[in-house]
Amino acid sequence: MERKKYAVCGVSSRAMYGYITPMMRQFSNCAELVGMLDIDPLRFEVCRERVPETKGVPCYSAAEFEKMLSETNPDALIIVCMDCHHKDYLLAGLQHDLEVISEKPMTTNTADALAVLEAEKKSRGKVICTFNYRYNPIHSKLREMVWSGKIGRVTHVDLNWYIDIRHGSSYFNRWNRMRENSGSLSIHKSSHHFDLVNWWVDGIPEYVHAFGALNHYGPDGEFNPSKRDGRHCRDCTEKRQCAYRRRWETRASAMGTYDDHIGAFVSPKKLFTTYRPDQCIFDSEINIYDTFIANVKYRNGVLLNYSANFSTPYEGYRLAINGTRGRLETLEFCGDGGRALPNLNDGGTQYIDYFPIFAGRERIHVPAVEGGHGGGDGLIQEDIFMGEDPNRKFDILAKSVDGLRAIAIGDAVFCSIQDGTVHDLTGFIE
Ligand SMILES: NC(=O)c1ccc[n+]([C@@H]2O[C@H](COP(=O)([O-])OP(=O)(O)OC[C@H]3O[C@@H](n4cnc5c(N)ncnc54)[C@H](O)[C@@H]3O)[C@@H](O)[C@H]2O)c1
Repeated sequence: MERKKYAVCGVSSRAMYGYITPMMRQFSNCAELVGMLDIDPLRFEVCRERVPETKGVPCYSAAEFEKMLSETNPDALIIVCMDCHHKDYLLAGLQHDLEVISEKPMTTNTADALAVLEAEKKSRGKVICTFNYRYNPIHSKLREMVWSGKIGRVTHVDLNWYIDIRHGSSYFNRWNRMRENSGSLSIHKSSHHFDLVNWWVDGIPEYVHAFGALNHYGPDGEFNPSKRDGRHCRDCTEKRQCAYRRRWETRASAMGTYDDHIGAFVSPKKLFTTYRPDQCIFDSEINIYDTFIANVKYRNGVLLNYSANFSTPYEGYRLAINGTRGRLETLEFCGDGGRALPNLNDGGTQYIDYFPIFAGRERIHVPAVEGGHGGGDGLIQEDIFMGEDPNRKFDILAKSVDGLRAIAIGDAVFCSIQDGTVHDLTGFIE
C-alpha cells in the first residue's frame, strides 16, 4: 500500500500524542511522517525522546517551510502549533494545493477564518478541521438521535460547561491566556462546544450576545498570594501560599510543575526554549475571560444558551436538547484526586436520557471507547489516516466552514462581552 506523506507544523504536546505517535505506530502502514517544523529546536529533541521512531525524520525551522515542502514533498500538512500561527500554514499549504489538517481552532478570529475559506476556493487542496469531540460516542449518538427525528424539530439547547481548577488554571499558565495567541477561551476552548451544537442541530449561527468576566485569575483573583507580576510556578517562593497549586501538589511534587496539557509533572527539565508553561495565573497581562455566558440564535430558529466556567471544583457538562416532540439530556462529570462528584445515579457511567413529550423516559447507555477525549481521539485518527468510515450514516469529519462557524460564535462572544451589543453574523456566515 502506498503511504500518504504528512508534514507536521508545530511539534506541540498535542502533535506528539495526537498525530506523530499514531502515525509512527497504529497507522504506519498507511501514513508516513516526512517532516517536522517548529520555531523551537528543543521541541525536536523532546519529540525524539518521547517517540524514538522519529529519530530520522527531517526537522525544519519556521523560516524553512518552503524548503521542507520541496525536500519532503508531502501530500498533507498537519497544523498543530500555537493557534495564532495556524492561519499562515493553512494559507501556505492551500497555495501549494495540499490537504491541510488543522487543529482547532482553525484560526483565532473570524476575518482569518474567512480568508482561509477564500484561499480554499482557489486551491486544489482542502481543509479538514479536527473537531475530535464530535467523535466521542455519546456526542455521535446525540447527533444520530436528533437526526432520526426522535425529538421533532429542535427548538432550544442548554449547555453548561465546567473546566476544573487544574485544567482551567493550566490555560492561564500558558500562551492560551492572551487573546492574540488563542483568540481567547471562547474561541480556543468553546469552539469545540459551539461546533458540537452547530453539528447536532445543523445550525448556521446568526446572532450572538454574551456577558463575561475574569473572576478567578489575573491580579484580582481571590487566591492571589500577592500582587506581583512575573512569578513562575516552578520556582515561585509563594507556591505554598497558592491555593491552586496546594490543591494537587505535595511539598515534594512541588519541586516540579503539573502541566495538565502534558498530563505530568514537568520537573525541572526544560520543555520549551521560547516560552514557559508555568507562568503565574495571577499575572496582570492576562487579557481573556474565565467565566462567560452566551445566547445564540440560529437561522433554523434554534436557540442556544451556553455557559463556560474555568475554575470549578469538578469537570464536565450538563446538556439538554429540546424539541417539539421531546427532550434529550446528558451529564458528564470527572474530577481529579478522588473528589466527590454529583451523583450520576446509574453506575457512574454517562448515558443519554430521552424524554418523549407525552410518554415515559428511556435511558440509552452508549458503550465507551478507550482513549483521549472520550475515545474521540482514536476514532478521528482513523478517519484522518485511513479515510472516512464508509459505514457511518452521517458526516462527521469537519470542514473549513465548520471551523468558521464555531470561530465566528466564539469571536462574537468575546466582542459582545467587550461592547455589550448583539453581534450579527448574517452577512458572512453561510
Ligand atoms: N483537539 C483537541 O482536543 C486539542 C487538545 C490540545 C491541543 N489542541 C490544539 O493543538 C495545538 C497545540 O496545542 P498544545 O497545547 O499541544 O501546544 P504546546 O504549547 O504544547 O505547543 C505549541 C507549539 O507551537 C510551536 N510554535 C509556536 N510558534 C510557532 C510557529 N510560528 N511555527 C511553528 N511552530 C510554532 C511551539 O514551539 C510549540 O512547540 C493548539 O492549536 C491547540 O488548540 C487541540
